Amino acid sequence: MSKEIFYVTTPIYYVNDVPHLGHAYTTVATDFVARYRRSQGREVFFLTGTDEHGQKILRTAEAAGLSPKEWTDQIVPRWTEVWAALDISNDDFIRTTEARHEGPVQKFMQDLYDRGEIYLGRYEGLYCVGCEQFKQPDELVDGRCPLHGTVPDAVEEENYFFRLSNYADRLIELWETVPSSVLPETRRNEVLGKVRGGLDDLSISRVSFDWGVPIPWDDKHVIYVWIDALQNYITAVGYGSDEARFERIWPADIHFVGKDILWFHTVIWPAMLMALELPLPKTVFAHGYLQVGGEKMSKSTLTGISPHDLIDAFGSDGYRYYFMRDISFGGDGDFSWEAMVARYNSDLANDFGNLASRVLNMISRYLDGSVPRVPEEAEMTLPEQSMIDVQQGTFAAIEKAMDDIAPHDALKAAWAFVRRANSYVEEVAPWKLAKDDAERRRLEVVLYQLADALRLMSLMLFPIMPKAAEKLWSRLGLEGRVEDRILPEEGRWGLLPEGNKVTIGDPLFPRIETEA
Ligand code: MSP
Repeated sequence: MSKEIFYVTTPIYYVNDVPHLGHAYTTVATDFVARYRRSQGREVFFLTGTDEHGQKILRTAEAAGLSPKEWTDQIVPRWTEVWAALDISNDDFIRTTEARHEGPVQKFMQDLYDRGEIYLGRYEGLYCVGCEQFKQPDELVDGRCPLHGTVPDAVEEENYFFRLSNYADRLIELWETVPSSVLPETRRNEVLGKVRGGLDDLSISRVSFDWGVPIPWDDKHVIYVWIDALQNYITAVGYGSDEARFERIWPADIHFVGKDILWFHTVIWPAMLMALELPLPKTVFAHGYLQVGGEKMSKSTLTGISPHDLIDAFGSDGYRYYFMRDISFGGDGDFSWEAMVARYNSDLANDFGNLASRVLNMISRYLDGSVPRVPEEAEMTLPEQSMIDVQQGTFAAIEKAMDDIAPHDALKAAWAFVRRANSYVEEVAPWKLAKDDAERRRLEVVLYQLADALRLMSLMLFPIMPKAAEKLWSRLGLEGRVEDRILPEEGRWGLLPEGNKVTIGDPLFPRIETEA
């Protein structure tokens, strides 16, 4: 079953507050993958959005003296603004308060009900509003939610239930036969272990408040916020409104989520889809949690660092690069200012930025700013050959890492090429060649190779650092935008046109000096 469109999603975020580094982490990773797939020539549909129902939003709005809709309307721009500042290239942005979502959600629920998958019962339990989730007593620490530090509400009400317990065997079979349905493997084992112990039916409606999508056959109830939220992945692509479009885009190739919401995405969501005989997402990938200085940066203990602070200091490219390069995707990771400065200075200011300035400067100085004639095979010596080999190995390694959803490895691999180009400069020492008229053609060959290496780097790094890549592209006198280029076709040597005029420009990544 191969489908043309590559469909990738982030979770939809709760808009009880503004985005923090953790939210941005998921979104940047998803953007990197989306841009990479486009650069491979795939048609991509990248969805993100906001989760606007439930008690958490309701209480936040009440505390601010606003209606929940007023609250979400005024805070959603704070989210889209951060995504714009981070160059997030989502194709759509869904809000769960939109009619295009709410209508189809009701249809989905009615279908489940008509198939006998939903029944009325009573729920008695403890509900954590921060998590928007019922908690088992053994999930609490001293009676409090370990994530939010709050005492959950005791709830006893009449609820509709989804027959989740019927799906344990089918879920286990899915994970065993399609291991890539939940990644990384440790997360798959985690859910497998839990589901082997059996599943309870799931409460899917609430009656004590009305901020949500009404249950279509009984409007005293609103749909439990998670059940409404998960459906964003299908309502945004035409479920219940445009069946042809839905079939073209669904299922998702990858749902990116944090490890905190693994259960909802790997158990509840597939079970509901199974109940309606709809195709299942191909992969749910759960990444780890970001910590700041070793301290958990959970949804409740905000650290006070806004993505904007880091974007101001490091630029959006520096931001994107650091988080994707320094933290092994899937595991937890620590953010620190010092580590970010160190990574930025060594990889971006030095290795990449300096290389670009040096090469562009030398072409200006020695060759009047014009790209020389494309070297012939016979003009290539060992150092050129070795740089070409490294580049080819690098591009293959990036492809493998991105297929394995290991963005940190892709960037690590990319640097083999950047470093090889730097060592090539030292090896061939163009400044020495420039002193000897007899070496004129050799100088041209060397500088051509370096300029072409920059073109290849611009293509290679575009998915992670779109701004720098576009700048470099135009400084090489290339037309159009890197964004419109397809890597497999243009990832060969010798495609930089002779005679292109280069420009030097400001440093791509000015060094960050830190006070002692
Ligand atoms: N609204 C739900 C998701 C519904 S999806 C159908 C939700 N929203 S959230 O805003 O609380 O968090 C969403 C996601 O933000 C988490 O799953 C995770 O991807 C990311 N992160 C939140 N805090 C994080 C860290 N400290 N570190 C890394 N990612 C974190 O849950």
